[in-house]
Amino acid sequence: MPGRGEDPGAFTALEQALRAFGRSYRGRGQDDAGDVSGATRGRFVTFEGGEGAGKSTQISRLARRLTALGRDALLTREPGGSSGAEIVRHVLLSGAARAFGSDAEAMLFAAARIDHVDRLIRPALEAGRWVLCDRFADSTRVYQGTGGTDPGLIDALERIALEGLKPDLTLIIDLPVEIGLARAAVRRGAAETDRFEADHVEIHERRRQAFLAIAAAEPERCAVIDGTATPDAVEAAVWAAVRGRFPELASALGPPH
Ligand SMILES: Nc1ncnc2c1ncn2[C@@H]1O[C@H](COP(=O)(O)OP(=O)(O)O)[C@@H](O)[C@H]1O
Ligand SMILES: [Mg+2]
Repeated sequence: MPGRGEDPGAFTALEQALRAFGRSYRGRGQDDAGDVSGATRGRFVTFEGGEGAGKSTQISRLARRLTALGRDALLTREPGGSSGAEIVRHVLLSGAARAFGSDAEAMLFAAARIDHVDRLIRPALEAGRWVLCDRFADSTRVYQGTGGTDPGLIDALERIALEGLKPDLTLIIDLPVEIGLARAAVRRGAAETDRFEADHVEIHERRRQAFLAIAAAEPERCAVIDGTATPDAVEAAVWAAVRGRFPELASALGPPH
C-alpha cells in the first residue's frame, strides 16, 4: 500500500478537506483571515528549545520586564493555552495518543493550535497586546518532524492552524541535552516524565539540532540564546534580542542589564 508521502496530491486534498471543515466550524477562511497587521497589531514572541532549557523561567521574566514598561503582555503555552487545547494537551503529554503514531500526534497538536490561535492568540494580537507563547509551531516541526512525520503534512497542518500568522520573534534557548534533562529531572522531583521528556537522549539531540536548523533557516525571525548561562545572564540575552527586534522598546528606558 503506498504511503501518503508517496502521493504529493494527498496533502493538498487533506488540506482542502480540513480547511472546508474549519470554515464551516468556526467561520474561518475569509479573505482577511490571518491578516493581523497594521498599527494596532500586538507583538507575538515564542520561546522554543528542549526540555529544561529555561523557556518557562525566561518567559515569565520577559513578561515581567514588559509589564514594568507598561506593555500589556499575555503569557500562554502550547500544547494548550485555551480551554479546548488544554484538553488536547493532556491527551498528548500523557502519551495517550502515542500509539497512533507521529502523524496523529501532529494532527492533535494542530487541532489544539487552531483553538489556541482562534480563541486566544489572534484576538489578543488584534487588541494590540504582546503575546508570549511557551512553545509554538516550531516545536511541532521539531518533535513530530524528527519523529518521522512528513514535512509536507507538517506544512499543510501549519497552514491550516496558523492561516499566515507567524511569530515576530522566536527565541530558541539552546543548551546541551544532558544539562536540560538534568534540570528537568530536578524540577520534576518525584513526578513522572511526560511523553516527550521520556524519550531517549539521542532523540533529544536530534531535536536540538532541528531547532538550530530552523534558526539557521530563518535568521530574521529567530534568535538563538545560550541557555547554559545563569538565569540572570539568559534573561539579559533574551532582553537584548527582544529590544533588537522591536525598536520601539529600544527607546524605552528599561533596566540596564
Ligand atoms: N539558566 C539556568 N540555570 C540553571 N537552572 C535553570 C536555568 N534556567 C532554569 N533553570 C531551572 O531548570 C529547571 C527547568 O527550567 P524551565 O524554565 O522549567 O525549563 P523549560 O520550560 O524550558 O523546560 C527549573 O527548575 C529552573 O528553575
Ligand atoms: Mg516549561
